[in-house]
Amino acid sequence: MSKIAVFASGNGSNFQSIVESSKEYDYNVDILVCNQANAFVIERANSLGIETYIFNHKDYKDRSIYEKEIINYLKVRDVKLIVLAGYMRLLSKTFLDEYEGRIINIHPSMLPDYPGINSIEDAYNDKASNIGVTIFYVDSGVDTGKIIEQSGFTIVNKSLEKVRQMTHELEHELYPKTIQKVLEEQ
Ligand code: GRF
Repeated sequence: MSKIAVFASGNGSNFQSIVESSKEYDYNVDILVCNQANAFVIERANSLGIETYIFNHKDYKDRSIYEKEIINYLKVRDVKLIVLAGYMRLLSKTFLDEYEGRIINIHPSMLPDYPGINSIEDAYNDKASNIGVTIFYVDSGVDTGKIIEQSGFTIVNKSLEKVRQMTHELEHELYPKTIQKVLEEQ
């Protein structure tokens, strides 16, 4: 059974779906790493019985200091894969080097289209032919890493709210099974 760490900063619906779906797979969520003490994802972790590592990035002079602390913590716990799910901080070279090829992220667009924030709204307002979800290996850019999995649908005849809902449902379906695939390929 491989241990994974999920990093999140906000709502945590993906975190919850990963924890709940992990029962069907060969991994378990060992720890939630969160940089926002008041994030709803922490309440979800508490209800699901998942340990949390909470820090405030503003308490540190620079990124590499808190990242080294997190790395040491994860190494002791023998975490095999870092899964970003709405984690709103970039990872530095320190982190990327330590976990090279073992950090993945999810984004609500058909990358390379619509990286960064507001991707669902922007794609919708542009009447993009396809909207969807991409899972990729993290590199030093914003949503630029090698694509692992992608799935989309058409926005024709759908409201923005419906598109948003379908995108998140797709995330919750695609991320847990892609984590299993990535672990198997390691
Ligand atoms: C998701 O849309 C994910 O693709 C993006 O951030 C959002 C996080 O949502 N990276 P949640 O916190 O998992 O509900």
